[in-house]
Amino acid sequence: ATKTKTYRIGFSQCTGGDEWRKTMLHDMKRELTFHPNYTLLYEDAENSTTRQISQIQALIDQGIDLLIVSPNEVAPFAKVIEDVFKRGIPVILLDRKIETESYNAYIGGDNVEIGRLAGVFIGNHLKGKGRIVEIWGLPSSSPAQERHRGLLEELRKYPGIQVVKELNGQWERDTVGRVVAAELNTLKDVDLVFAHNDVMALGAYAVCKQKGIEKKLDFVGIDALPGPNAGMQAITDGILKASFLYPTGGEEAIETATRILAGKSVKREQVLNSIQIDGSNVRALKAQSDKLLAQQVDIEKQSQRIDALTQTYASQKNTLYITLAS
Ligand code: FRU
Repeated sequence: ATKTKTYRIGFSQCTGGDEWRKTMLHDMKRELTFHPNYTLLYEDAENSTTRQISQIQALIDQGIDLLIVSPNEVAPFAKVIEDVFKRGIPVILLDRKIETESYNAYIGGDNVEIGRLAGVFIGNHLKGKGRIVEIWGLPSSSPAQERHRGLLEELRKYPGIQVVKELNGQWERDTVGRVVAAELNTLKDVDLVFAHNDVMALGAYAVCKQKGIEKKLDFVGIDALPGPNAGMQAITDGILKASFLYPTGGEEAIETATRILAGKSVKREQVLNSIQIDGSNVRALKAQSDKLLAQQVDIEKQSQRIDALTQTYASQKNTLYITLAS
């Protein structure tokens, strides 16, 4: 029998701790169950750019056939990624961009468009008049820059809406807790907080709630993850007025990786769709995604059962051989 070729995919993640990135990894692993001849080597840089660069180098030293990377910041990664690419190792950029053309595919949502969609929602929601606070994700990461750009582009059409303050939440709930607590006086006097992700929008909400001012202003975020404690639930509960679906691209990244390694052509820029989720459509969308999550759990259980059966079968076959041989 011919032996199927095996492949090693390296995945360098800027941070692995939050629900969105856990979902991304999960989406990858689910897609990988269809490709048993692939192994994933996973590295989590925990928000450190220097750590992420050395982890990419270590992955190369270990020997990988392809690199998937979600780079922490825009600027510092060009050189290391160009080095990887020059060695003939294909590169897939996921969710965050960098300053080099040395990659085979970029997969992610259109963050400028998401910023614009947020601007349209805010303009309508505030009826063209109001004061807002913008909470940035890590300012040196591409989604933060692009979401900001899209927002401003759209808000220019609403001269009555002012961004009175920009805060740096670095994508993280803890950081937001600190910066928002230090700006309570500003927050008392605004109509809406727009954060570059739901984690930060919910972090800002929690601080305001603690101070008893949460009902005076509205909160808008991005990601709209299903599941408990995430964006979709928060919209259902009326805590977030809106959020924008930001697909993880985990499944598409694995699919693209397997195509590249099979010598097939792939689309270089793969833009994943987003939609606005608010009180008017959250029930239907939540029902759908809850169902999808439940089906995924079923599929995973079944595939574990098949694995177990295959193993039992393999060991029975061995026993049979041993019995016959002796
Ligand atoms: C998760 C996250 C998401 C956000 C994305 C941007 O780490 O902060 O909430 O949409 O990264 O890269």
